[in-house]
Amino acid sequence: SSSLFILLLTVAEMGFGQNTAKFSRDDFPSHFVFGSGTSAYQVEGAAFDDGRTPSIWDNFTHAGNLDDKSNGDIACDQYHKYKFLIMKLLDDYIYSANDATWCNNVLSLYLLQEDVKLMVDTGLEAYRFSISWSRLIPNGRGPVNPKGLQYYNNLINELTIHGIQPHVTLFHYDLPQVLEDEYEGWLGRDIVKDFTAYADVCFREFGDRVLYWTTVNEANVFALGSYDSGIFPPKRCSSPYGANCASGNSTSEPYIVAHNILLAHASAARLYKKKYQAKQHGFIGLNLFIYWFIPLTNAKEDVLATQRAYDFYVGWFFDPLVFGDYPDTMKKNVGSRIPSFTPHQSEQVKGSFDFFGVNHYGTSYIKDNPNSLKIDQRDFNEDMAAKLVFKRNDLPVGEFPIIASGMQEVLEYVKQVYGNPPIYIHENGQMTLRNASLNDTSRVKYLEAYIGSLLNAVRNGSDTRGYFSWSFLDVFELLDGYKSSFGLYYIDMNDRDLKRYPKLSAQWYSNFLKGRSSIS
Ligand code: NOJ
Repeated sequence: SSSLFILLLTVAEMGFGQNTAKFSRDDFPSHFVFGSGTSAYQVEGAAFDDGRTPSIWDNFTHAGNLDDKSNGDIACDQYHKYKFLIMKLLDDYIYSANDATWCNNVLSLYLLQEDVKLMVDTGLEAYRFSISWSRLIPNGRGPVNPKGLQYYNNLINELTIHGIQPHVTLFHYDLPQVLEDEYEGWLGRDIVKDFTAYADVCFREFGDRVLYWTTVNEANVFALGSYDSGIFPPKRCSSPYGANCASGNSTSEPYIVAHNILLAHASAARLYKKKYQAKQHGFIGLNLFIYWFIPLTNAKEDVLATQRAYDFYVGWFFDPLVFGDYPDTMKKNVGSRIPSFTPHQSEQVKGSFDFFGVNHYGTSYIKDNPNSLKIDQRDFNEDMAAKLVFKRNDLPVGEFPIIASGMQEVLEYVKQVYGNPPIYIHENGQMTLRNASLNDTSRVKYLEAYIGSLLNAVRNGSDTRGYFSWSFLDVFELLDGYKSSFGLYYIDMNDRDLKRYPKLSAQWYSNFLKGRSSIS
């Protein structure tokens, strides 16, 4: 018989091990939220369904830019699999050998455990996801796609009904291709107007249930990956060292893009405050990827280079948001290639946030690296005159130093330099090779160590208000496709239902989250 009788057990029914951490959920303030996250292109799939148009990531993957030639066409299919529970009645045709006929008298009960239910079972208090701009507004601007609207309304309802706080990112790398074609996307000044109009739709339609908005994810990585090294779409390359793209784009591009991101962020934040905040009482912020930087040696040059690295990676965005201008080191080293804020722009950008989002994964050493090229030929690293170094001779060689105390260090840095703004750790997690082993003990150790370091920062006065592990599921990874994994849940890509399996890390996190004595 081809009929299937599948009943999936809920995770809640599985025996979770004892929590061995030296701290518990109760050690964090009760209003602190713990969640996990994904992003639209990496999790939704349904890339061509219901009126969605391509984003720059669809075109990039379809052009075969990833080693394994993979794409996010299906990804985790969260578009179809977000619901708490789906019951399908399958009317299966079976062949009866006895009377040599086909009959359809078998009903199969098909019970699927879907993502919001997994979140509830895991004990997530919040879910961070992003909206696909080209699903909601297929032309980039103008008419809203009713099917896109319905999807996000369904997802948000499903979350809020089950007590999970939605934290929404508006832009997570996936610009509608149509805007790239029309005016070179984030390089064009029209992006400010179009992004604000898109944000307006989101606030208007979802803001009654969504209180936490992030305008742009990893603004620094986007500007560099897409316009300096060119490893991300639209593959523009200002760096003479960029390996993946035809070079020759202006070396100002990353700075122009960053400037437009700040203006678009400020414009959306201003709109939110003017039009929605009094009624919706939500919060809006911008997200950066932040390493802990350590001078490679104690030499004065490396110590100064480390400060420059913070200025270039963090001050690039946080300085304008807090103080209204770029760091002096940037203005000096980049010269006229970094746009200047007009007094009006500076005033709009300064203070246009309620929180900062921080993605923290690990640590880099910094080595002084005096610039050698003429100012108009320099790429970002030459401008910074510092080098990121991921190995140190006296330490075990690893791909990337994982030093959990970096979490506290980064939070202390932001607290001291920017006056202790509210922070959400939007991403933190360990990359491993993707395989079917659910026994991810190293990820458990990673999460435990980093959350412990976060607790130290909170105890030391950092106004950090939430933590999201990256990622909830094994999603499509931006440059690695399905080769690497960060998820708490493994997905069997060969299974037609893309079944989700809890790893040890899901069990550990769940156990930690549920070890709460009271819920206020
Ligand atoms: C940063 C990005 O925001 C996310 O999309 C990516 O998957 C993770 N880091 C891991 O690389």
